[in-house]
Amino acid sequence: MKEIRVLGGNRLSGTVSVHGAKNSVLPILAASILSGAESVLHNCPDLTDVDASIEILEHLGCRVKREGSTVVVDSGPLNRCDVPDRLMREMRSSVIFLGAILGRTGQAHMSFPGGCELGSRPIDLHLSALGALGASIEETGGNLICRTHGLRGWELNLSIPSVGATENAMLAACCARGLTVINNAAREPEIVDLQGFLRAMGARVRGAGSSTILIEGGQPLHGCSYTIMADRIVAATYLTAAAAAGGEIRLLGVDYRQLSTVAAALSQAGCSIRSGNDWISLSCRGGLRGVCPVRTAPYPGFPTDAQAPMMAALAKSRGTTVFVENIFENRYRHAAELMRMGADIRVEGRVAVVCGVEKLHGAAVQATDLRGGAALVVAGLGAEGETRITGLDHIDRGYENLEETLRSLGAEIRRLDR
Ligand code: UD1
Repeated sequence: MKEIRVLGGNRLSGTVSVHGAKNSVLPILAASILSGAESVLHNCPDLTDVDASIEILEHLGCRVKREGSTVVVDSGPLNRCDVPDRLMREMRSSVIFLGAILGRTGQAHMSFPGGCELGSRPIDLHLSALGALGASIEETGGNLICRTHGLRGWELNLSIPSVGATENAMLAACCARGLTVINNAAREPEIVDLQGFLRAMGARVRGAGSSTILIEGGQPLHGCSYTIMADRIVAATYLTAAAAAGGEIRLLGVDYRQLSTVAAALSQAGCSIRSGNDWISLSCRGGLRGVCPVRTAPYPGFPTDAQAPMMAALAKSRGTTVFVENIFENRYRHAAELMRMGADIRVEGRVAVVCGVEKLHGAAVQATDLRGGAALVVAGLGAEGETRITGLDHIDRGYENLEETLRSLGAEIRRLDR
């Protein structure tokens, strides 16, 4: 069984570059099929979710080459329109291929992604957006079949600013005749990155980063070269790690504005944060103190993906912090694992009350989801003694070279594969 062992107590110190964003690269890889040409993508992280996306592209008939952090996708030879059930199960965000495959081929077949470790995660908004753009959707026996005789631009009003639904709608709208307007669109930086890539291919898209995105579909698309933005959630994780362990770290390649809510909570907790054009640094000398309620919200609010690592850091603090998880219904599974390490956390529905303790101690814990798993590493770095973390498949979906990076900052952490 694979296991990470962390011996807590070392302060972190040093500088690291943050790798490319998982949540950008996945929709961009899906979007690469729209052009029928070659996309050269730089700064692609080495993650199992990226491997799964590449497998889908290859299954569809695309030629994919990977050299270091550059992935080249030639979507010219694409000759299929289905995503195998295994890959749908492996990565729920495979659903992002729906709009892209439909737009490129006029039909798409895949299994229904269903629930996941964060709760039920429906895709009704994805489907109604594609339906409004002119797709017919059949759902039978857990399978989805989407077909169209030609997509057309439409005004879409999302009832919630879903990231995935916004992305699916953007991809399909690039292939629709006429203007599509997406109202109440997600404003996440990854949507802006997707827009950047679509524009590099020749698509006419504007407004990403605001609540209204406009797409003039039907433009001829061509090959391009594009660099994926840095991963703001990975950056947030390293910041919380340095807050939990103490020390001074600098992260390179990140846009500090994307981290403003996380940085604000950490400074309130007693850390000193500095930032420049493409870097952010954190210095934490004393212990942490509890902060004002951390309420997750769509961007630019506090990211749900940073909730677990932040909770792990504040588990060892003076005072109490209330967390309110507003995005996913079941996103506190890490709390029970943190309690094995001595944390005092009470969870009631969407609220978790974290009464800071003076010390955490090492324990055998299990990652139950991607960010919850990273949170256990964060807690382990600040705990006394050895923490043993299993369930690493979750962590490997979103962190490249996690142990090496933390070791380069002075942590005592290693992976065993027994
Ligand atoms: C994306 C991110 C994920 C992040 C999340 C919220 C990727 C690959 N994943 O996930 O890391 O935590 O945004 O920032 O980019 N919903 C519906 N119906 C739908 C779609 C969504 O009810 O059709 C609900 C979801 O259940 C959830 C909320 O909307 O409660 C937000 O989900 P959404 O923004 O769609 O998240 P994802 O795109 O799945």
